[in-house]
Amino acid sequence: MKNVALITGASSGIGLELARVHASRGGDLILVARRLDRLNEIKDELHEKFGIEVEVVDMDLARDNAGKELFEEIKRRELHVDILVNNAGFGGHGYFYEREWSRDHDMILLNILTLTELTRMFLPEMVERGSGRILNVASMAGFIPGPFQAVYYATKAYVLSFSEAIASELDGSGVTVTALCPGPTRTEFEEVANVAGSKAFMIQASVESVARYGYKSMLKGRAVAVPGSANRLLVNYLLRMTPKNVARRVSKMLMEK
Ligand SMILES: NC(=O)c1ccc[n+]([C@@H]2O[C@H](COP(=O)([O-])OP(=O)(O)OC[C@H]3O[C@@H](n4cnc5c(N)ncnc54)[C@H](OP(=O)(O)O)[C@@H]3O)[C@@H](O)[C@H]2O)c1
Repeated sequence: MKNVALITGASSGIGLELARVHASRGGDLILVARRLDRLNEIKDELHEKFGIEVEVVDMDLARDNAGKELFEEIKRRELHVDILVNNAGFGGHGYFYEREWSRDHDMILLNILTLTELTRMFLPEMVERGSGRILNVASMAGFIPGPFQAVYYATKAYVLSFSEAIASELDGSGVTVTALCPGPTRTEFEEVANVAGSKAFMIQASVESVARYGYKSMLKGRAVAVPGSANRLLVNYLLRMTPKNVARRVSKMLMEK
């Protein structure tokens, strides 16, 4: 396999679109998610359309040591990874104190722990080769606290901070790390996170535009990539000028149903 991208959460949404973008450029793929039937359909679609090689791994990544298990599975299949895309993730709506703890627990495992573990597993060989790309899917949610999605927003703040920090550590190594920070985007996220009806999700970006922007930013080695000029205006200027208590109130109003 050549120019191999491993994409977690590739069975739908942003991960699937990133897979399509990578395939359209002739790159091979390792697709990871839980729904094996979907992964196999995508494998057939991309192989037929672009003539690329695709490996699929069905794995629940919201488990302790899942990152290490996936890394070992890649080694067992004698594959290598040029591009690591940590995309699998989910959100959830409601008062923190009322939400089912197991959902938030799994969210932290998937959005934070597995992402960090996979990055830790694959980075050393990238650094040794002097080349490699990591694309961590954070969110606009990473820039502010999110009432009614408290844990989700906090997980994305972690992804953003972690990615920026290691991007800086890796300056000059030939390896880049990019935090992709989409705003609301049309995928299965809205249903899984139960955020339909909130003001924040009244306008959603197309998944194709988000994936194209994220992929391009990753190739450029940008540390932070915010798709959409209005979103960039928001995080780069408006949010910085807004007092924190006002930002929290606006965030709450946007997530309320
Ligand atoms: N859509 C948005 O508005 C938005 C905005 C900002 C950031 N994001 C972020 O973008 C990323 C992708 O989300 P999306 O919008 O594309 O949502 P999506 O359509 O629901 O896709 C989520 C992907 O993650 C996989 N996944 C979920 N739980 C998993 C688990 N336990 N183990 C392995 N794979 C798992 C799902 O596959 P299976 O169900 O087959 O396992 C699916 O492929 C997430 O990190 C999300 O937080 C989304």
